[in-house]
Amino acid sequence: MKDLTNKVAVITGAGSGIGRALAKALAARGCRLALSDVNETGLAETMAELKDAEVRSYRLDVSDRDAIYAHAESVAADFGQVNLVINNAGVALSASIREMTDEDFKWVMDIDFWGVAHGTRAFLPHLIASGDGHVVNISSVFGLIGVPKQSAYNAAKFAVRGFTEALRQEMKLEEQPVAVSCVHPGGIRTNIANAARMGKSENAAAQRKGFDKMAMTTPEKAAAIIVKGILKDESRILVGPDAWGIEAINRLLGAAYQPLVERFSRKNLYR
Ligand SMILES: NC(=O)c1ccc[n+]([C@@H]2O[C@H](COP(=O)([O-])OP(=O)(O)OC[C@H]3O[C@@H](n4cnc5c(N)ncnc54)[C@H](O)[C@@H]3O)[C@@H](O)[C@H]2O)c1
Repeated sequence: MKDLTNKVAVITGAGSGIGRALAKALAARGCRLALSDVNETGLAETMAELKDAEVRSYRLDVSDRDAIYAHAESVAADFGQVNLVINNAGVALSASIREMTDEDFKWVMDIDFWGVAHGTRAFLPHLIASGDGHVVNISSVFGLIGVPKQSAYNAAKFAVRGFTEALRQEMKLEEQPVAVSCVHPGGIRTNIANAARMGKSENAAAQRKGFDKMAMTTPEKAAAIIVKGILKDESRILVGPDAWGIEAINRLLGAAYQPLVERFSRKNLYR
């Protein structure tokens, strides 16, 4: 996809953070937008910032498989085509494997993995029919390395990466007109840590403060990097200097990155 003008773009989780910034960036490039979120207040705020664009909003809970499939049909009917799907909606959980509840684990997987998988599969026939489609799935740097107290999020984001990389290869082998990118943001200054669930023994205030201190990149910068990656058909879009650093460590050290994370976590997470 070399030109975004008049392309129909679907963004989940568009009521905040990266999703909202992507909506603004894509509107500025002439996309027609189908925006969704489970948080209707946030979504209305995003809509208010997009007065000049052709945009529709939908309430969608991405943990609801049937609702995603119905959403894909509605968007295709409302716009007549679908070119770009950005499976962005996500949540976070900070809890050790011993401490986290099954319910919290499932909450993360249902939104962060199944939301992306169903979002991809529901829209794929429409993207193929468009003749010029692109799937963009938002993973994380935590889809590249494992981190203590992030096992559920790690599991979901590693799964998103595997699923998305397999899809890219399938689309090429089947000669389908659908590009595929997996996005790995580092720390982005959004509401993700505020909205995160925490294990019982976690110091939520300290963790949220730590996140705010470490998040290096604004949502607007993240959106600009993602849009550039889409236009260049990058298979892996790294967002922020921390993401590039983590990928380099991963590449250089292989599994030997783990003692480094352990040392960092002992100082910052297990004090
Ligand atoms: N902020 C970061 O540092 C960071 C880093 C790596 C990856 N990410 C990923 O980026 C994506 C966007 O997150 P963000 O940082 O903008 O966070 P955010 O909290 O600002 O925005 C996430 C949006 O997703 C929506 N959402 C949550 N559950 C939903 C559901 N069940 N159905 C539909 N929408 C739902 C929220 O209402 C919110 O509007 C997520 O997938 C997140 O995992 C974020």
